[in-house]
Order: sequence, then C-alpha cells, then structure tokens
Amino acid sequence: MQNPFSLDPYTSKEQFCDREQELKDIVSFLTNGSNVTLISPRRYGKTGLIFRTFEDLRDKNYTCIYADIFSAQSLDDFIKILSEAILNSMANESLIKKFFTALKNVRPLLSYDTLSGSPQVTFTFLLDEQKKLTLKSIFDFLEKQEKQIVFAIDEFQQIREFKESNVEALLRTYIQQLHHVKFIFCGSKKHLMADMFTNAKKPFYESSRTIYIDRIDKEKYKAFIINLFKNSGKTIDENAVDFILDWTKRHTYYTQFVCNQVFAESSKSISLEDVKRTISSILRFEIPNFIERRNLITDKQWKYLVAIAKEGEIKKPTAADFLIKHKIGNAATAKKILTALVEKELLLEQSDLNGKTYSVYNVFMSRWMESL
Ligand SMILES: Nc1ncnc2c1ncn2[C@@H]1O[C@H](COP(=O)(O)OP(=O)(O)OP(=O)(O)O)[C@@H](O)[C@H]1O
Ligand SMILES: [Mg+2]
Repeated sequence: MQNPFSLDPYTSKEQFCDREQELKDIVSFLTNGSNVTLISPRRYGKTGLIFRTFEDLRDKNYTCIYADIFSAQSLDDFIKILSEAILNSMANESLIKKFFTALKNVRPLLSYDTLSGSPQVTFTFLLDEQKKLTLKSIFDFLEKQEKQIVFAIDEFQQIREFKESNVEALLRTYIQQLHHVKFIFCGSKKHLMADMFTNAKKPFYESSRTIYIDRIDKEKYKAFIINLFKNSGKTIDENAVDFILDWTKRHTYYTQFVCNQVFAESSKSISLEDVKRTISSILRFEIPNFIERRNLITDKQWKYLVAIAKEGEIKKPTAADFLIKHKIGNAATAKKILTALVEKELLLEQSDLNGKTYSVYNVFMSRWMESL
C-alpha cells in the first residue's frame, strides 16, 4: 500500500487535511476581484493550500499559474521564472506562440529541459528599461487571455532581495491595472510580508486581502490521521495520534513527517510504543543536522536556544527569572541573541492578542534539545 502521508506540498483532496475555511475565503476573495496574501511560518502548508485552491479554481474555469521565486535575485530572474511558469501552465502550441509574439521586442529563446521536458526561456537584456517593458508586456499578455487567471507567486518576500530597488512599486503599478488576472502572494517571513501589505507607506498597502494560516484544528487533524491510516489498511490507537499531535506541536510538516515514518515502519496495528520508537529513530537520524546548525552559531546563542527548547515556548524571553534559571547574562545580551536567532530562522516568533511567543523553529530540534 502506498504511503498516504506524502511529503510533497500537495497530492490530493483526500490526503489534505481541512483548511476548508481558508479555502473558501481565498476562492471567494479571488473570484470577487481581490488579490490574496497568504502568510504563515515555514512548513505550515501554504504551498499545499495554493495547489488545493487551484483545484477548485480550475473547476470554475480559471487558468492557474504557480511561480516560486525563492531563487530569484534580480528582475531578470523574476521575469524568467514568471515566463516559465506561464508557459508551464499552457500546454497549447498557439498560446506559446502568442506569448513569444507578445515579447518579440526582446527576442526570448525557448528551449526544453532535457530531463523534465519543461519549457525554459532565456532573455538577454541590454537595458534596464527593457526589463520593465518586458514585465509590462507579460502582464498585458495575461490580461488579454480569454480565461480569467489566478497567478500565485510563492516566497514573494524575495522581491525585497532583488538588486534593483523599485521592484515593489513597479509591480504594484502593473498589477493594479489588471482585471482578468488576480494574484496570490505567499510568504513565510512575516515581518517582511506584513510590512509590504499592511504598512501604509509601502506600495502594496491594502492592495490585497491577507490571510494568516494557523495550525490545523486538533480534533480535525486527529480524525484525518486515524482515517488515512484506516483507509490504507492500518489501525492506529487514539492515544498514539494524540501523542503525535502533541509531540509535533501540530506544526504541519513535522506531523506529516512523523505520520509518514510511522506508516513506513509499522505493522498493521499501531500503538503508542510504536510511535515512540519511530520518533527516537527520527531524532537519531537528525542529530548530525542539529550538530551542523550548532557549528553555525555562537556558544551563547546555542545555550539560549536550548533554554527556550526546554521551556517549550516562552512569552518573556528577556525576563530575569528565565535568564537566571538558564544562566544567560543580562537582558540586553538576551535581546541581541534573540534578534539574531529570529533572523536566522532558528527561533519562531509568533504574535497574537496576548503578545509574542518564541519557540525553536525546527520542532525535531526543539524536542531533541529538551533532552540535553
Ligand atoms: N492540510 C494539510 N494536510 C496534510 N498535510 C499537509 C497539509 N498542508 C501541508 N501539509 C504537509 O506539510 C508539509 C509542508 O507543506 P508546504 O510545503 O505546503 O508548507 P509551506 O508553508 O509552503 O512551507 P514553506 O514556507 O517552507 O514553503 C508538506 O509535507 C505537506 O505534505
Ligand atoms: Mg511553500
């Protein structure tokens, strides 16, 4: 039997837990003319949710395009990635031709990846002005298509890393003019994303409806997991599932990974003991990676990280009792360490109405550190 807990962002409705409300909201916003911004910590399931949304949108006759711009460093890279995403979504010769006609001024070259067969485009820009015009032509081309389009740009915060300075304003100007193309902007760097879309001084301010993706509801997640095991011919004890959800803190990727491994390693009937054995083997396997991370930070930062792991999560990371208990120096030092660790994505900062909380970002590493 195939493992039903795939580690890809999305496989099928049946293997995707809940997110019903988010799905409804996203589809409703997009089909009523808004753009949507999705924000959550890493590995909560944003990309999966985009693909899940595409499924519903395609049923409504939308063309859906997905571009991951994580690797883009410049406007050139951005244009290339968007173009390839567009070509990927069009398995239609005449449309591909039209796309190239629309961009004929800059004479892009089309080739096909020898392994995957997916289309690749090469641009050679001589002037900066050409890049802007090309981007504009791409959007104009999309606007002219018969079908409505939803364009998802994943890791959108990356546009702040481009070597050109005004990309945000430029994009905003173009995007504002589109009526047949709506966007999903997706990202995990909350500070950056929130600054782009909720800071009144920034170009994207109020141009999009923001949805924060949270953890999946505990009861729904539990029923989902039990059911997936059952449908694949295995039974798992309820307390074993409770343990998984608690131990992984319901951080989607880690929950999925543990379920994947438990499924892989277990016989037909799974108990709490089986789950604990799988978890030990996962940690044993990950230790070399944790040690690699250890080598990338200072002793003080490591000690601070371990202290937070042992607390699970913490609301007052510079409070005297916490610093004394773990022998961490003064509040000013702690503040500096905290900022550095959040910046390095070793600590996860989350805020709600009661303020901010901090925890070790990688749940497996956090659980391992507890035992140090
Ligand atoms: N609703 C869901 N039900 C079950 N598994 C899910 C769900 N959402 C995500 N996952 C699993 O969680 C993992 C991470 O999902 P995904 O890659 O979509 O997260 P992400 O938020 O885009 O992460 P990143 O910020 O690193 O890009 C994947 O292995 C996926 O299978
Ligand atoms: Mg993602």
